[in-house]
Amino acid sequence: MAYGDAMGYLPFREAIAEYLGAVRGVRCEASQILVTTGSQQALQISAQVLLDPKDRVCMEEPGYPGARQAFMTAGTHLIPVPVDDEGIKVAELIRRGRDARAVYVTPSHQYPMGMTMSATRRMLLLNWAVRTGAWIIEDDYDSEYRFGSRPIASLQGLDADGRVIYVGTFSKVMFPALRLGYVVVPKDLVPAFSAARDAADIFSSTLYQAVLTDFIREGHFARHIRRMRMLMRGRTEVIGAEAGMHLVALLQRGINDVEVSRKAAHRGISAMPLSVCYSKAPTRGGLILGYGGANAHQIHDGIRKLRMTVEGQIA
Ligand SMILES: Cc1ncc(COP(=O)(O)O)c(C=O)c1O
Repeated sequence: MAYGDAMGYLPFREAIAEYLGAVRGVRCEASQILVTTGSQQALQISAQVLLDPKDRVCMEEPGYPGARQAFMTAGTHLIPVPVDDEGIKVAELIRRGRDARAVYVTPSHQYPMGMTMSATRRMLLLNWAVRTGAWIIEDDYDSEYRFGSRPIASLQGLDADGRVIYVGTFSKVMFPALRLGYVVVPKDLVPAFSAARDAADIFSSTLYQAVLTDFIREGHFARHIRRMRMLMRGRTEVIGAEAGMHLVALLQRGINDVEVSRKAAHRGISAMPLSVCYSKAPTRGGLILGYGGANAHQIHDGIRKLRMTVEGQIA
């Protein structure tokens, strides 16, 4: 019931460090883990500690709107860098990202498009960061759910120079209402991150951290991931996505995805417009369809309603 450590509940941080080392190839000690209220706070604190207003920050285009918000709130200048099927285009990053202080990436499962960053791009990205002294903010938000190939080790684990800030969350692997996430920081940055968290809201609820620690230590967490992987694999067969809990459906040129999303909401379907992930309007809009919280019947029903919505938009 008393005040806790700004960095988080130690047994929880030990359990996270062990898990990340075993499953994600993250090399860290528990002392480098700051427990946060989800990735959003991790991004916000990272921006606050590492960046100054007007600093240039590169971001995947399309990319995660939550990250854009966090960096914009810190007053930084955002530079969009396009992605292709190997992830962020590092050649473009080198060209556009001159003097950039940081780059934000989602290597395991690009948000929103869903590709995995290739090994070559990972090495090129790390080399760029070492050469320029920029930070890499790696958001590993749903790395647990891969259905085909084994998860690829994190960028953090490949980084020998302490350039990577690794952000993770329990929002996907467990559920968003927990509001628990974490950031793994290079050792010399621990005091600055700890002070920023202390100044923000002191620390995360010890109760939830303690319960989740037991959940992990007693083996329920690993069992949950195994069960969910099987379930998700079943849910993605139809659409052929190989990782994550969402997919993107592109709409025909000329269809306004914001409008489709608004109309779908009237039918009780939540489908985020793809265009919100772009800094400039894309040539084709689309819908981001999350299926983590829906069963097969709900997915079927949702797709039927979406079809009616889109057809209504074309007519
Ligand atoms: C790329 C990405 N990062 C992080 C999150 C989760 O954020 P939080 O941990 O703040 O709930 C999401 C949720 O959709 C996401 O898409």
